[in-house]
Amino acid sequence: MLLQLKDVRKSFGKGQTYVEALQPTTLEVNANEMIAIIGPSGSGKSTLLTIAGLLQSPTEGSIIIDGKDVSKYSEKQRAKVRLKTLGFILQSSNLVPFLKIKDQFKLLNKVNKNVMDHDEWMKNVEALGLSGVLNQYPNELSGGQRQRVAILKAVYTNPKIILADEPTASLDSKKAHEVIELIRQQVQTGNRSAIVVTHDLRLLDQFDKVYEMNDGVLTQK
Ligand SMILES: Nc1ncnc2c1ncn2[C@@H]1O[C@H](COP(=O)(O)OP(=O)(O)OP(=O)(O)O)[C@@H](O)[C@H]1O
Ligand SMILES: [Mg+2]
Repeated sequence: MLLQLKDVRKSFGKGQTYVEALQPTTLEVNANEMIAIIGPSGSGKSTLLTIAGLLQSPTEGSIIIDGKDVSKYSEKQRAKVRLKTLGFILQSSNLVPFLKIKDQFKLLNKVNKNVMDHDEWMKNVEALGLSGVLNQYPNELSGGQRQRVAILKAVYTNPKIILADEPTASLDSKKAHEVIELIRQQVQTGNRSAIVVTHDLRLLDQFDKVYEMNDGVLTQK
């Protein structure tokens, strides 16, 4: 099992502003497994994903990654797990504004020794329709192109666990399928796992399991 959340709960605020964003939740994600989370806006999907990704701490409960309880890790140790083990595709983009697209990847080569090999990278650049934008800057790309670059960046460092929040939001149906297919390949060829939050019900048959979040309660469909 690559990722385990045990009785993870999250609340925000006090008194009148108190929100119970995530009810006690237990979730196990195995290697080679790709799961989808659907559910209405404000139901707690991003809260769950960012807790799993060590971007925020739960109010209660524990997070076990690759057999290690990382809940009590220091911020420095958490940063190391994020860099080495996790790949994020968040609702906000992860592109560096002043770097050409090809240089965004060169930068990752410098900070992370374990990256996708060049042939595989080229293949994915083509499959995602990005060959023509490698020498451009992020602000010269369309929203969908930026999103596909962000996705390729997220999987470029061979993360064991891929966490994606609406990765296909601004893509047409064909491109959306290609993005899910790219995540699928990464999961299957590398013994990895992925959790993908999506509103796109047409993509659900590409997943091994589908969960639904409602008012902070996660149930398997
Ligand atoms: N930092 C925060 N401070 C206070 N409340 C928060 C915070 N983050 C999330 N919430 C609240 O927690 C609940 C769940 O939010 P979350 O972002 O997880 O929803 P979501 O399912 O991802 O929604 P969407 O589909 O719109 O992205 C909402 O009521 C939200 O207002
Ligand atoms: Mg969200």
